[in-house]
Amino acid sequence: MSRILVTGGAGFIGANFVHQTLRTLPQHELTVLDALTYAGSRANLNGVLDSIRFVEGSIVDEATVERLVRESDVVVHFAAESHNDNSLEDPSPFIETNLVGTFRILQAVRKHEKRLHHVSTDEVYGDLELGDPEKFSESTPYNPSSPYSASKAGSDMLVRAWVRSYGIHATISNCSNNYGAYQHVEKFIPRQITNVLCGEPPKLYGEGLNVRDWIHVDDHNRAVHAILERGRSGETYLIGADGERNNRQVIEMILEALGKDPGAYEKVRDRAGHDLRYAIDYTKLRQELGWRPEYTEFAEGLRQTVDWYATHEDWWRPQKAATEARYRRKGQ
Ligand code: NAD
Ligand code: DAU
Repeated sequence: MSRILVTGGAGFIGANFVHQTLRTLPQHELTVLDALTYAGSRANLNGVLDSIRFVEGSIVDEATVERLVRESDVVVHFAAESHNDNSLEDPSPFIETNLVGTFRILQAVRKHEKRLHHVSTDEVYGDLELGDPEKFSESTPYNPSSPYSASKAGSDMLVRAWVRSYGIHATISNCSNNYGAYQHVEKFIPRQITNVLCGEPPKLYGEGLNVRDWIHVDDHNRAVHAILERGRSGETYLIGADGERNNRQVIEMILEALGKDPGAYEKVRDRAGHDLRYAIDYTKLRQELGWRPEYTEFAEGLRQTVDWYATHEDWWRPQKAATEARYRRKGQ
C-alpha cells in the first residue's frame, strides 16, 4: 500500500487516474491536490470524494506542497495549465504552474526523499513532417513550439536536473493526445462532439491535415501505473497507442458517429505555430515494462467517448457557452 499524492487530480487525466486507481488498486490511499482552476472540478470526482482526501490548493504554494509531500510516499504530478490555445493568449499561468509549481514539488520531494512521477507531453519534441516514417522516441531532441509546450519542456528539464544533481527518485513520461470522459470542452474532441450535440458545426483549424496520435486516457493511466511499479528511476518513457489520425478524419468520424453528414464542418482560423504531426514510438515502454494499449480500435474508443458526452450534458453544459464565446472572439 502507498500513500499517493495526485496533483491535478480534479482535471481530465488526473481524475481518470483517481477513478482507475480506486477501481483496480484499492489498496492505495489517495490525496488529491488541485487548485480547481477553470479546468478542474469536484464533479470530475463524483462518487469517489468519500474515498480520497481532497485538498483545494495550488502546487505553487510552498507550505501546502511541503506538508502534503511529507505525508505521502509517492507523488504523481499531473497538475498543469494544459491548453495550447490559452498559452498563446496568456502564457503567464503556464510559467507559474508548470515551471514554478514543478519546482516546488521537486524541492519537497528532495527534502523528504519521496518518489516522483512527472506526467509530461510529447509536445516537448516539437513536430514531425506529414508522411514521414519517423516517430518521437526517448532520444528525440527537445524542440517545443508553444508557450505551453515550452513550459512543459522546462519542467521536464527541472526534473532531470534534480535527478542528476540531487539524486531524487523520479521518472518522467511523455504521452500523446488523450481522449475520453471528463475532458474539458475547450479541447478538440469534446469541443466537436458538444458542438454537434448543440446543433453547431465542428470547427476545423486551417485545412485539418495536422496529425495527432490519439490514446485513450485509461491506457495512459495504466502506463503511468506500470512506470510507478516497474519503471527505472531517472528514466523517461514515451506513451502512445498507434493512433495517428488527421483532424479532418477525426471530425468526420465524430459526425458519422452522431448520424450527421461527415462533410458538415466549418473551417476556422488556424492556430499560430500549429504543430503539424505527433507520433510516438513506445518500444521502450513495451519492451521494458510489458505495457500495451488496451484500446487498439480508435473508432471504438471514440464512439464510447461520443456516448459519454451525449449522456453527460449536465457535466459539460455549464462550460460550453463561455468556452465558445472565447473561441469566437479569436475567429475560431
Ligand atoms: P487539465 O487541464 O484537464 O487538468 C489540469 C488540472 O490541474 C486541473 O484540475 C487544474 O485545476 C489543475 N491545476 C492547474 N493549475 C494548478 C495549480 N497551480 N495547482 C494545483 N492544481 C492546478 O489537464 P489534463 O489534460 O488532465 O493534463 C494533465 C497532465 O497531463 C498535464 O501535465 C499535461 O501536460 C499532461 N498531458 C496531457 C495530455 C492530454 O492530451 N491532455 C497528453 C500528455 C500529457
Ligand atoms: O500531444 C499532447 C498534448 O495534446 C497535450 O500535451 C495537451 O495538454 C493537449 O491539450 C493536447 O494538445 P493539442 O494542442 O494537440 O490538443 P487540442 O485538443 O487543443 O487540439 C488537437 C488538434 O485539433 C490540434 O491540431 C488543433 C486542432 N483543433 C483544436 C480545436 C480546439 C481544431 O482543429 N479545432 C478546434 O476547435
